[in-house]
Amino acid sequence: MKILVSGGLGFIGSHTVIELIKNKYTVIIADNLSNSSIDVLDKIHQLTGIKPHFYQIDVTDYQETKKIFQEHTIDGLIHFAGFKAVFESIKKPLAYYQNNLLSTITLSRLCTEYHCNNFVFSSSATVYGDQESPLKEDMNLMPSTNPYGETKKISEKILRDTAFAHPEFSATLLRYFNPVGAHESGLIGEKPNGIPNNLMPYISKVAKGELKELSIFGNDYDTIDGTGVRDFIHVMDLAKAHVHALEKMPSGVSIYNLGTGKGISVLEMVNAFMKYNKVEIPYQFKARRAGDLATCYANVDKAKKELDWQALKSLEDMVVDSWRFEQMN
Ligand code: WQD
Repeated sequence: MKILVSGGLGFIGSHTVIELIKNKYTVIIADNLSNSSIDVLDKIHQLTGIKPHFYQIDVTDYQETKKIFQEHTIDGLIHFAGFKAVFESIKKPLAYYQNNLLSTITLSRLCTEYHCNNFVFSSSATVYGDQESPLKEDMNLMPSTNPYGETKKISEKILRDTAFAHPEFSATLLRYFNPVGAHESGLIGEKPNGIPNNLMPYISKVAKGELKELSIFGNDYDTIDGTGVRDFIHVMDLAKAHVHALEKMPSGVSIYNLGTGKGISVLEMVNAFMKYNKVEIPYQFKARRAGDLATCYANVDKAKKELDWQALKSLEDMVVDSWRFEQMN
């Protein structure tokens, strides 16, 4: 089967491409390199022996993206391409709505026009808004605390309405919790441009000495140690879930949480990083960050039952693999 992966050189996209190739899929990558780098393509080649066909295009551009569907018969699509920094989305809402919605609309249009009836969408736990964890797929969606979360919610709606209008079209919506870690080779991993927004890349840069100390945003939450609690999931577990989703591809629209089902606090993550990597992470408790929830973790029963998938990697794997990648890149 030929799978088009939008954002396939990005953090989650590149790890998923590795798993797709390992499972004998033919992969085509479309990426505009706005938050990724072309050398990841060579790393994929190094790790799999295969260099996927690559288009450096912006998938919000209908005419450009149409060329891929004219040159290839696309059997399935995994849509990763999108802006994903919560705090940045509050400062740049129009860029987020334009990029994240128009890419979903453009790819949905082309999939229905060219009979690509298997659409896997990279969604996010932010669509649940501020609700009591564990979060379940059948919960009502609340207003998100940021435009990023709204773009994921609206994109899910676009796909649901597309599937309703085109019965042959199926969409699987994968709601990620907190992806962390890196491929065990240390060749690919999370490499955000500039100062990291997310916890794990920030910790890694402090460990490396590139950043002075970690600010822990809030230690007065009603949690095990007062710091934020999240469902951190290894990116390789996440990548495998996409292969399972393509294999199962239920008809119509299906929604799955991708997490471990366990909450880990920020302080527990910092202590694990120091313990398993034998490095020091200086930190200071600071004020809470706007838009943050106290606790967010998944109920993962549905993916286990229907996708025959569950996260297998440990907290140690997450921090050791993150640190190896940081040291090597
Ligand atoms: C985790 C915890 C912070 C940085 C967001 C998106 C989600 C996904 C992952 C894309 C919180 C604390 C963080 C720091 C800290 N994005 N923290 N110091 O906000 O849970 O989720 O990113 O897929 O969709 O919503 O992730 O890693 O930013 O924060 O104390 O320097 O770490 O307060 O409790 P978040 P995060």
